[in-house]
Amino acid sequence: MRLDKFFSNTGVLSRSQCSRECRAGNITCDGKIIRDPSANIDPEKNVIAYKGEIISYSEYVYIMMNKPLGYVCSNDEAGELLVFDLLGEKYAKFELFTVGRLDKNTSGLILITNDGQAAHRALSPKHHVLKKYEFTLADPLPEEDRSSLEKGAELADGYVTKPCQIEMKTNKEGVIIMSEGKYHQIRRMFASVGNKVVELKRTQFGGILLDDTLEAGKYLDLTPDEIKLFKNP
Ligand code: URA
Repeated sequence: MRLDKFFSNTGVLSRSQCSRECRAGNITCDGKIIRDPSANIDPEKNVIAYKGEIISYSEYVYIMMNKPLGYVCSNDEAGELLVFDLLGEKYAKFELFTVGRLDKNTSGLILITNDGQAAHRALSPKHHVLKKYEFTLADPLPEEDRSSLEKGAELADGYVTKPCQIEMKTNKEGVIIMSEGKYHQIRRMFASVGNKVVELKRTQFGGILLDDTLEAGKYLDLTPDEIKLFKNP
């Protein structure tokens, strides 16, 4: 990889800044000053430093965002606010996508990455990755509806959902833990028993918990432990 691309990918220096800093002798490769911004380096093998500070490099980006209401999990949808619009400029050069989707009117934990393989694994039904959502309903949920939804709901299109777990906190509020993620699934499940979801927020994806200090619209890089959990569902 070219040295200037390495720096622009890390977000530390733009390509033109990299040329300038090379000329100024501020960049080293394995301890030797490197003056050519087009020089080929191997981020896995070479130690690159800027003004004496080692620059760590990762090809992949893993982000947790607290998705706000009103934003869509799409890379390009005319007239809509996109979750990607909330990310800082340093992420612009990565080809990011969301790991699955949350509806426009669902908030909470959405993972964003450019690691297609890991995302594919995390979403594969084979791995049964559990997701947890907090919900508020328009009407009280009778116990018989709660237990029949847990066993499997027949949706309007005839699809029967897989078993899940529903715990009520009040007669209208609760949490649902499920491995599936079909289009509008939770809303359609509650609709199948004549109820309506008025608020929905995801708080967990597999072993990754939404940081409860993270305000809506804010995001964090996953920690190394969270990346491990994401990659090995
Ligand atoms: N189920 C839904 O209905 N909506 C979501 O955003 C996620 C799960």
